[in-house]
Amino acid sequence: MKCIAVVMAMASEASPILTQLGAQAIPAIPLMPFKFFEADRNGCRVIVSVNGRDKRHGVDSIGTEAAALNTYVVARQYNPDLIITAGTAGGWMHRGAEIGDVYVSDQKFVHHDRRIAIPGFEEYGIGSYPAVPASGLAQALNLKLGTVTTSNSLDENDDDRRLIAKSGGVVKEMEAAAVAYVGEMLAIPVMALKAITDLVDHHTATADQFNANLLMASQRLAEKLLQVIDFCAPRSVADLG
Ligand code: ADE
Repeated sequence: MKCIAVVMAMASEASPILTQLGAQAIPAIPLMPFKFFEADRNGCRVIVSVNGRDKRHGVDSIGTEAAALNTYVVARQYNPDLIITAGTAGGWMHRGAEIGDVYVSDQKFVHHDRRIAIPGFEEYGIGSYPAVPASGLAQALNLKLGTVTTSNSLDENDDDRRLIAKSGGVVKEMEAAAVAYVGEMLAIPVMALKAITDLVDHHTATADQFNANLLMASQRLAEKLLQVIDFCAPRSVADLG
């Protein structure tokens, strides 16, 4: 493929991969918080687009709104063959996750916090946007595969739990379904790569686990993301499954 766009939410998640790619900052879009970086990997252009800081609150623009807009902007500007939504996520002990595991998206991206009990809208709320088939890639790089489920909350309430059980989600984060929504609209395949910072069914508070493991998980993410980029660069999207 000619170009891969990597969309990321937090500066700390992006820092190790930007270093390892030797990526250079490139001009982004006036007024928008997104930060663009560029690297070349064996003739494949790699654009890393980070959501950037929220102007009002001074924190990284995590969550679905910034992710969707960032994806749209980077896709229109660079026309990538593949979009990778990369970052950290929660997993579950009862589903076999361990801190530092890196998962590749499988099958579909879903939401678990858009509960709309009106016929037709219920399915719309859940979303179910396609994930690019990547079982071959996962096997070759020794990565776990799972359905990625998205919400705008770090914690998990009873309603989330019920919807996640129904969809079969194994990785919980805050951007992927929004990225996949835009990807499907623009007919650009989307893959998620997510490193586990916290175990949602562990007795330690999710936020405490997240803060304790963010650095390590971001390093694990960078290591695997580099391998994923190198696997994808000489192939076409159809050859990742
Ligand atoms: N990012 C890292 N851990 C997460 C979690 N448990 N939920 C949502 N996003 C996350």
